[in-house]
Amino acid sequence: MAEKVKTVVLGVTGSIAAFKAAELASRLTRNGFRVETIMTASAQEFISPLTFRNITGRPVVTTMWDPASEFSVEHIALAEAADVVLIAPATANIITKLACGLADDMLSSTVLATRAPIVIAPAMNDNMWANEITQQNVEKLKKRDFTFVGPAEGRLASGKKGLGRLAELDEIFDITLKVLGRKGDLKGRRIVVTAGGTSEPLDPVRCLTNHSSGKMGYAIAEAARNRGAEVTLISASTALSRPAGLEIVSVKTTEEMLNAVQAAVKKADALIMAAAPADFRPVKASSAKIKRQSISNLILELEKTPDILASVKGNFVRVGFAAESDHVVENAVDKIRRKGLDLIVANDITEKGSGFGADTNRVTIIDGEGRADALPMLTKGQVADRLLDRVSALLKKGKSG
Ligand SMILES: Cc1cc2nc3c(=O)[nH]c(=O)nc-3n(C[C@H](O)[C@H](O)[C@H](O)COP(=O)(O)O)c2cc1C
Repeated sequence: MAEKVKTVVLGVTGSIAAFKAAELASRLTRNGFRVETIMTASAQEFISPLTFRNITGRPVVTTMWDPASEFSVEHIALAEAADVVLIAPATANIITKLACGLADDMLSSTVLATRAPIVIAPAMNDNMWANEITQQNVEKLKKRDFTFVGPAEGRLASGKKGLGRLAELDEIFDITLKVLGRKGDLKGRRIVVTAGGTSEPLDPVRCLTNHSSGKMGYAIAEAARNRGAEVTLISASTALSRPAGLEIVSVKTTEEMLNAVQAAVKKADALIMAAAPADFRPVKASSAKIKRQSISNLILELEKTPDILASVKGNFVRVGFAAESDHVVENAVDKIRRKGLDLIVANDITEKGSGFGADTNRVTIIDGEGRADALPMLTKGQVADRLLDRVSALLKKGKSG
């Protein structure tokens, strides 16, 4: 069954950062949300409603008094349609109005009337933000379960540096998704995800590592966050941007990853090991750079790194990954039995569009009884959701700490 399209009511207010709301509207629309934009009168001094109408493909609400508007007759129509209300950028003025319960324009009326969660991304001069009145109003709204994103520190419109910049759009987007999913099927669950390829130092400048990009693990962590889970992402070095709305623990070596996993699983309901930990490390790393001129033939002695899955025990759902280049399913079934896992996700890294670095993946999910579910080629986000469906079902059955 097709999932219902979610509605984001995007409130845009009179800040110099209003132009950035167009990019947010675009990103939300591209990701399948219905975006209904409400602009205050001041916002329209900064950016035209036409921009949002074209980006979202929806009429833009600019006043309460437009007889042609499909929403104007019933000023609470958007309040009821909203799955989330996001105000970005939010002025000091709108924050104060909302804290007082004012409803003198379409945006404030909608917020007062909605039962949907509300995300506020303030943007203003640093003195306006620091002003005690603004701070008191922010605290008041936080107590009423409004979620604030930012503001950030940095260059302000006035040219000086300070706290008041609109948060990064990635962060606003991530937190909006988190808030939208907070009543999801993983609500209240603690999920630990590992991602990326660990690296083992050879000397201060060189290391042994692998081609894992971390994309699969990050996709799982983000999907779990968007379904209501409290997520700890234990990440080896990757080139990926850090998602917001989850805890990130950065590690380098397999040993560091093991320590981080052992600490995180104490309170976990599920551990999903999507990382590619280096299996071997130099017996002795050189403290000084190994000089090319001084060695004609470098022979490295390697030892095994700790086996993370074998070293973490407990009553939580355990999911492993098996990146294989041959006998994919047979090797994965062997691994699930040896390591006593609940599920294993096997993929053939030699297949085009699958495995390391790709945005897509073709995987087979295998359970403890050896039953294999071969999925078609999917995006890593889709694979993450299919896997989390299985984890969610196991948790419902009562398999958790
Ligand atoms: C050039 C300019 C930039 C402004 N930038 C901001 C801003 O970033 N944040 C803010 O709170 N107010 C800013 N203001 C003031 C608001 O536009 C003003 O308080 C207005 O009443 C806000 O109305 P609204 O909250 O209904 O959109 C700015 C005003 C001007 C003229």
